[in-house]
Amino acid sequence: MKTITLNNGVEMPQLGFGVYQIPNEETAEAVYQAIKVGYRLIDTASIYGNEKETGEGIKRAIDEKLVTREALFVTSKLFILQTPEEKAADTIEQSLNLMGLEYLDLYLIHQPYGDVYGAWRALVAAQKAGKVRAIGISNFKSSKMIEFVGLTEVKPQINQIEVNPWNQRIEDEVWHQKYGVQVEAWAPFAEGRHDLFTNEVLSEIGKKYGKSVGQVVLRWLMQRGIVALAKSVRPERMAENFDIFDFELSKEDIETITGLDMKESAFFDHDAPQQVEWFMNRMLETEK
Ligand SMILES: NC(=O)c1ccc[n+]([C@@H]2O[C@H](COP(=O)([O-])OP(=O)(O)OC[C@H]3O[C@@H](n4cnc5c(N)ncnc54)[C@H](OP(=O)(O)O)[C@@H]3O)[C@@H](O)[C@H]2O)c1
Repeated sequence: MKTITLNNGVEMPQLGFGVYQIPNEETAEAVYQAIKVGYRLIDTASIYGNEKETGEGIKRAIDEKLVTREALFVTSKLFILQTPEEKAADTIEQSLNLMGLEYLDLYLIHQPYGDVYGAWRALVAAQKAGKVRAIGISNFKSSKMIEFVGLTEVKPQINQIEVNPWNQRIEDEVWHQKYGVQVEAWAPFAEGRHDLFTNEVLSEIGKKYGKSVGQVVLRWLMQRGIVALAKSVRPERMAENFDIFDFELSKEDIETITGLDMKESAFFDHDAPQQVEWFMNRMLETEK
């Protein structure tokens, strides 16, 4: 597995497995199967509501000696109402307890809303205490990331943002490189939006290498130096998405993919009032 070294020296796998929207009853099995396929980076979040089941899948894989804890790289995140410093500290403990782990490899502030500076103090303290190895942010636009880096003593190691062929974030990547913050891609397949998996351009590129559209997309992210999280509940797709280290896209093919960029989210505008309202309501509902 190819790895990336973060700005604090921690090494992480470049390809990972995400558990967003996997139903609770399927999560442990999916995580176990993903580890069996070879994934070592596992990504969940407090708001996904499946940290416990993610931990169960990890425990089963460790108990069966498929993997050691040290070989895994486990991520979770805190949500908006969990950002005040004390609440953030509690949420990190809650993640550890729910997942049955002594430490997490990466902990992120999930959204650029709430008391992100209070949350950051809690994350830095948890990192100093050895409860998390790396810390970062998610869904921060480059402008917000630059402000955040300027106002914090410890620089985020990661910014987890949407990156896929429809929303390539090429300029954002340059800004993140300038500030030494690693870009991690969520929804690399845009969850299949705009018919990604049957897109003609991506399919034609795939045919040249005997690879699928999913494999082309993940390979493209690997060659850009971006960490990518792919989700599937099907073991055959998990294996397909993992089988991307035996080919290299040509410069011309990369340029062709660059031409697909629509430069806007395949999902929503993070700053839109309706979206922020949805985030807030979602958190309040899970607090009930
Ligand atoms: N920080 C954030 O705000 C944020 C937001 C979204 C996601 N994330 C993280 O990023 C991870 C990945 O993003 P995502 O889950 O939203 O979407 P995604 O990985 O872009 O797409 C997942 C979808 O693609 C399908 N799929 C996967 N591999 C395929 C293949 N080879 N061929 C055809 N279809 C395939 C899956 O279906 P099946 O499962 O049926 O195979 C699923 O419907 C998440 O799980 C989560 O960990 C973070």
